[in-house]
Amino acid sequence: MQNLSHEFKTPIFTIQSYVDTLLQDEPENPVLRRKFLEKTAKNVERLTNLLTDLDEISSLERGELVLVKTNFVVQDLLKDTFESISIKAEPKAIKFSIKKGCEAPIVVHADKEKIRQIVLNLFENAIKYGKHNGSIKAGIYRTDDKRILIEVSDDGVGIAEKSLPRIFERFYRTDIGRSMDATGSGLGLAICKHIIEAHGQTIHIRSTQDVGTTIGFTLRAKKD
Ligand SMILES: Nc1ncnc2c1ncn2[C@@H]1O[C@H](COP(=O)(O)OP(=O)(O)OP(=O)(O)O)[C@@H](O)[C@H]1O
Ligand SMILES: [Mg+2]
Repeated sequence: MQNLSHEFKTPIFTIQSYVDTLLQDEPENPVLRRKFLEKTAKNVERLTNLLTDLDEISSLERGELVLVKTNFVVQDLLKDTFESISIKAEPKAIKFSIKKGCEAPIVVHADKEKIRQIVLNLFENAIKYGKHNGSIKAGIYRTDDKRILIEVSDDGVGIAEKSLPRIFERFYRTDIGRSMDATGSGLGLAICKHIIEAHGQTIHIRSTQDVGTTIGFTLRAKKD
């Protein structure tokens, strides 16, 4: 896998240098010691995330994903999922809502837990790359009698046009993304794309720098 060793090297070298400093120089200042330990912990977290995501993506690429499809209401999944990570949205005071006109419950037929994983990554991204007091809005639309379109929009930092074609590649992160969040692995959207394609559906992105980002994906409407 291209870039893989680089993705490991950065956090490992960072951990190494902080641990070496702690061992050799034994900073007297407890505040400094704590700061070095916190940096170490952040990079350990990054390595752990990377390994979990790598396991997941390799099993997706081996075609091991077994979908367990049921009928469920999209709006309920969106609200439950936001609720489950609202603690992450609080420090930035980011709010979530279903767009006006999209409140009427729509039932889809898909693997609910896998779709929850997608929604979770989209919300986490919208929070990580979002602005203070920002908002996340979800739109749910019936495109034809077979498909439902779900769009998650934020009013965050956005993505430059030149980066958009690469955004679903594994490990791809924008410079702004890296600067706003040190623990990400750049695998979230690659995993989302795999899951949607395993459902035989599509995912796409629109974004404008300093305005915001919208990610949309389709799902099969409920089977009667
Ligand atoms: N809503 C968003 N607003 C701005 N930039 C975004 C948004 N979503 C994704 N990005 C950019 O796309 C990159 C890839 O996102 P992706 O979810 O794949 O990885 P990640 O969030 O960096 O790490 P993780 O593996 O933890 O999800 C991010 O690093 C960021 O640069
Ligand atoms: Mg992510």
